[in-house]
Amino acid sequence: MSYQERYEYFRRAAEEALRGAVPADVPEPLRSAMNYSLMAGGKRLRPVLLLAAYNLLCEDITPALPFAAALEMVHTYSLIHDDLPAMDNDDLRRGKPTCHKVYGEGMAVLAGDGLLSLAFETMASSGHPKAFAALKELALRCGTRGMVAGQCADLNAEEQGGNEELLHYIHLHKTADLLTAPIVMGLTLAGADEELLSAGRDYGRNMGVAFQIIDDILDVVGSEAVLGKHIGKDAEENKCTWVSVYGLEKARQDAEKYTRAAEDSLSALGEKANFLKTLARQALVRVQ
Ligand code: IPE
Ligand code: IPE
Ligand code: MG
Ligand code: MG
Ligand code: MG
Repeated sequence: MSYQERYEYFRRAAEEALRGAVPADVPEPLRSAMNYSLMAGGKRLRPVLLLAAYNLLCEDITPALPFAAALEMVHTYSLIHDDLPAMDNDDLRRGKPTCHKVYGEGMAVLAGDGLLSLAFETMASSGHPKAFAALKELALRCGTRGMVAGQCADLNAEEQGGNEELLHYIHLHKTADLLTAPIVMGLTLAGADEELLSAGRDYGRNMGVAFQIIDDILDVVGSEAVLGKHIGKDAEENKCTWVSVYGLEKARQDAEKYTRAAEDSLSALGEKANFLKTLARQALVRVQ
């Protein structure tokens, strides 16, 4: 399988696991609001990372699917809340009006809350022997010392102004934590040893920081039609970004540096790591 075919294989499996994941007895319009954002497309990068990490050690990816779906639920919740007027105040996401634009702010808050709880319900109901460890990893990475902490620093920086230390903290937590979780969860579910887990953590952290640097660059030079979100918003909201602190040129150089570090983290794995290495490279040249 080529890199593209493999990505599609994982992406489709994740898409399938998400279809019908929101239970039929969730009251309306909450159920529609959750599905609206969950099924709006997106790269499905976090589920793909989890399935690829799991697939390093296990052929059949079926047992990992509930965890792949859970990751996308948590990611989607983070986007719904990130777009609210009280946070980044965005009205376009994945090429469509944001959740609060369609369903109202109150329902968008609840759709995010609903997706977060449903993610943990889905993992806990999987029956996988390593479910508890995977669930704990996601709880730590998405919570008050992970993504939520990063979002808190991101908001604080709008008021206080950014600096290098704050910038690194923001990128590590608001983004890299939710890109490290899939690797660690996938490897944990597959029964990896500590050496492999440690390499996976290094990969996730480095590719995660590179991913957010590119997101910051695309907010300046990207195409709205391709990205599916408005550009120029970071400067408008006085965000602390790699571009605002270091400028475009150093941002590009640093994205390359972190990507190389991500590739190097997996060097001991040899050819088995080709998919994850290519994924990090592709994320560097992405336009959406
Ligand atoms: C957007 O994530 C938020 C960031 C952490 C930069 P993605 O770029 O993965 O968004 P989707 O899931 O493809 O829409
Ligand atoms: C988002 O960072 C990170 C999370 C949602 C946790 P951004 O605010 O830069 O993401 P976009 O640009 O809105 O997708
Ligand atoms: Mg934000
Ligand atoms: Mg945002
Ligand atoms: Mg952004």
